[in-house]
Amino acid sequence: MTGGRGQITDLWPTKFFQRALVDFEEPNRQLLKLVRDLDKANRNVTTDYRDNNILNMDHPGANWLRGEVNQSVIEYLQLIGIDYSVNWQIHAWANINRKGDYHDAHNHPHAYLSGTYYLKMPAPVKAGRQRSDVRPGHITFYDPRPGINMISINKDPYVDPEHTILPKPGELLLWPAFLNHFVHPNLSDETRISISFNIILKWSDSYLPNQ
Ligand SMILES: [Fe+2]
Repeated sequence: MTGGRGQITDLWPTKFFQRALVDFEEPNRQLLKLVRDLDKANRNVTTDYRDNNILNMDHPGANWLRGEVNQSVIEYLQLIGIDYSVNWQIHAWANINRKGDYHDAHNHPHAYLSGTYYLKMPAPVKAGRQRSDVRPGHITFYDPRPGINMISINKDPYVDPEHTILPKPGELLLWPAFLNHFVHPNLSDETRISISFNIILKWSDSYLPNQ
């Protein structure tokens, strides 16, 4: 460091990746049919997620999405500066949220990264008699450092402990699996359908940092 002006180092950032996939319309139609067929055959497609790895299936939509998930992980790793070979497997499941369904705050243990790809979002619902701050169908991510905003002031980087998104069909989100997130209730008569996945690393000693 040279004398004179100070410098800022961003310590321990949380990397959050968002990508709008191109030409997603036809694969989404194929995947929606697959998810609905699975749902008819098994009423608990969302909560029995261990038995339905949708991205292990040989199906045109699933094959397309598997390629896009792999490409997204490659891009994420490059963007955060990992410049050596990493191998993983994908564990994926479908989520069908009907009216009133939500997923309370949670993270995804035993995975390196987690993500969601959006197939179908309900049209925005007109506000009824709910509170004015409800955000139906949104997803919120929380600062992994609890309480860090306690004495934050406007425009410092710690002031907002939440990051909230209303995803669109065709969007893919990817984040470190430790990050807590909450899927807000669906208040529409239409379903909200997505495919979530965990990226589980196949171990290599090259992952160990130089000490
Ligand atoms: Fe989740």
